[in-house]
Amino acid sequence: MKLSKPEFRAMQSLPRKLGQRFFEMSMFRHMGLDVQNKDVLEIGCGSGYGAYLLNQLDPKSYIGLDVMPEQIALAKKKYPQFQFIAQDAEDLSQFEDASKDTVIIFGVLHHILGWRKAIDEIARVLKPNGSLFLEEPRGVDIKFFDAIFRWGHPDTDFGFKAMETHLTSRGLVIQSKQWTPLLTMYHAAKTRGS
Ligand SMILES: C[S@@+](CC[C@H](N)C(=O)[O-])C[C@H]1O[C@@H](n2cnc3c(N)ncnc32)[C@H](O)[C@@H]1O
Repeated sequence: MKLSKPEFRAMQSLPRKLGQRFFEMSMFRHMGLDVQNKDVLEIGCGSGYGAYLLNQLDPKSYIGLDVMPEQIALAKKKYPQFQFIAQDAEDLSQFEDASKDTVIIFGVLHHILGWRKAIDEIARVLKPNGSLFLEEPRGVDIKFFDAIFRWGHPDTDFGFKAMETHLTSRGLVIQSKQWTPLLTMYHAAKTRGS
C-alpha cells in the first residue's frame, strides 16, 4: 500500500538514510549479504537510497521496485544510473523463475496486504540457494509510530510468526535472525523449488 504523507516524508529524511547506511546495511553484511556479481532485486526500494548502497557492493544487476510511482520518480531523478520500476510486489510476473540471486527488503512486507503472495513470488524468482534478506518492525513498534507520528500503517495480519511459517512453507529456510531495537532482520535461503 501507498505510504501516508508523514511516513513518506520520514522515509526521505537524513535519519532514515543514516540508519539504513550505518546500521541496517552493516547488520545485513554481518548476516552474510554479499551481492558482488549477483542479480539483485530490491522490493519496496522507496526513493532509491538502498539502490545507492547496494550498488556500491558491485552487483551483476540491480532492479528496485516500488508500488508508489512518486517514490520511483524520486529514485530515477536521484539515481538515473540505476534501474527502477513502479510495480506491486504481489506480482513479479515480469521476472522469470529462478532469475535472482538476492532479494532484499528494507521494511516493506508490513505494508502489503497480500504479503504472503509477495513471499510466494520472491520464492519463485529466487535461484536455488539464492538469498532473501529482510527486515521488518515489530507490531508494537508499528503501533508506537502510528500513535506518535500518525504514520497510519495498514491493518494487516502480518507478524513474524506467520511470516516465518510462510517462508518455510515456500522452501525459504531461515539461516539467521537478528533482533534489534526497532527492526528484526532475517536471512533466508531457498533450499528447494517452490
Ligand atoms: C517503510 S517504506 C521503506 C522504503 C525503503 N525500503 C526504505 O527503507 O527507506 C515501505 C515502502 O514499501 C513500498 N510498498 C508498499 N506496498 C508495496 C507493494 N505492494 N509492492 C511494492 N512496494 C510496496 C512503499 O511504497 C514504500 O516505499
